[in-house]
Amino acid sequence: MSKTILISNRLPVTIKKEGDKPVFQESIGGLATGLKSYQQKSGALWIGWSGVAEESLSEKEQQAIDETLQSDYSCVPVTLTKKDIDDYYYGFSNKTIWPLFHYFINKVHYNARTWEAYEEVNTKFFKVADRLMDDRDTVWIHDYQLMLLPQMIRDKYPNAKIGFFLHIPFPSYELFRTLIWREEILRGMLGADLIGFHTYDYVRHFFSTCTRLLGTSRKIHTVKYEDRQIHVGAFPMGIDYNFFTQHITDAPTEESFKKMASEKTILSIDRLDYTKGIPEKIRSFKRLLVKYPQYRGKVRFNLIVAPSREKVASYEELKQQISELVSSVNGMFGTVDWMPIWFYFQSFSQEELISFYRYSDVLLVTPLRDGMNLVAKEYTAARTDLQGMIVISETAGAASELGEGVIVNPNDYAAVAEGIRTALEMPTDEKKARNKMMQERLKRYNVHFWVNTFLGRLEQLTQIKNAAVPV
Ligand code: G6P
Repeated sequence: MSKTILISNRLPVTIKKEGDKPVFQESIGGLATGLKSYQQKSGALWIGWSGVAEESLSEKEQQAIDETLQSDYSCVPVTLTKKDIDDYYYGFSNKTIWPLFHYFINKVHYNARTWEAYEEVNTKFFKVADRLMDDRDTVWIHDYQLMLLPQMIRDKYPNAKIGFFLHIPFPSYELFRTLIWREEILRGMLGADLIGFHTYDYVRHFFSTCTRLLGTSRKIHTVKYEDRQIHVGAFPMGIDYNFFTQHITDAPTEESFKKMASEKTILSIDRLDYTKGIPEKIRSFKRLLVKYPQYRGKVRFNLIVAPSREKVASYEELKQQISELVSSVNGMFGTVDWMPIWFYFQSFSQEELISFYRYSDVLLVTPLRDGMNLVAKEYTAARTDLQGMIVISETAGAASELGEGVIVNPNDYAAVAEGIRTALEMPTDEKKARNKMMQERLKRYNVHFWVNTFLGRLEQLTQIKNAAVPV
């Protein structure tokens, strides 16, 4: 029987060593939270890194973790050494590809050693897949850490159904061309039968990059590369809509919110990342307080930042910058009985987050660049009372599906401050009407729709391909 295998750098659970004990934690980020519900339903195997270095576990611990991952989570780990993590994960993935694809060209580092590590670790992932798969299987590879893997699998399994999905933006050709290993990356991706992106803009960039760099020809939705046709499309990722409407909340968090009912609340939830525009949104909030002093003492900003990639210097610096900005705003406007910004540098459980969603009047999602951003979708779905309103950047992939929200340019602090005010003051009926439209869309184009459309298309394509083979 053929099977479906998911492959991504990070598994839906991450192992953290607390003292001597390895602890299993839910992974953060759009990819893990989005795909998890599909995997739980389908039981598909998921290959990925567990988040811990080989050297920090004894053989016995490693074995116990592998067994639990397999039996409780249907996950198969790829073991990475400290050096792999430094060079492939913190290095090429997060110091080269991540900043480049998010248009932060001055943060891009080039280093031949980290590139080699990227190739080596993609090969490690291939070896684990090779142990588990055969030529009839469907393999769905995810994200920018594994862009060489589709071609590696294609070389050994010419008939496998290979899908690749990029969860971050695909940049315009003018940016992509600056990458030293640009052709290798493109050829790696083109090993897939189907390549998916979140938005049509990323699809356009990919087509034009293939034509200019590899001279491929394009026919509607396909790239002709060597003797193969590769299909490319926009598949905006959805959320597990029903989960967010079920009110699985955290009771103590809800109680605390109820006590603060007289205050309006603004919420922001991001991983620590310079792409998320966190300093910019603090400055925009400050503008709001300067221009509209009537909000002082009346509005509370809950700023949640989940720790992430802190070993990369620019992330550590960002954490420092955020802390300083928060204290400066609090120092400037705070009073004995009111503090404008409540800064939480921690990860919350999904139940706690849903409680935050339900009691926040405004969600401020203002990344400078974001592949999709599922938090915006989760918040809108969780407001079953149709209250609340999102303020969202035009540079977040999710903005193209949430056009009834308040759309802003995140670089324009004055415009974001106005956006917050518009959202805070929006009449109830208008909020209801706008949220209803967004909710209907989110309900229909949920994560199951996303998975079924992508995997359905992959299946269809390979049937056509096989039928076309002369006998
Ligand atoms: C983004 C990426 C994912 C990644 C996640 C968390 O959503 O697209 O591939 O897993 O961030 O980042 P991390 O580096 O902790 O895996």
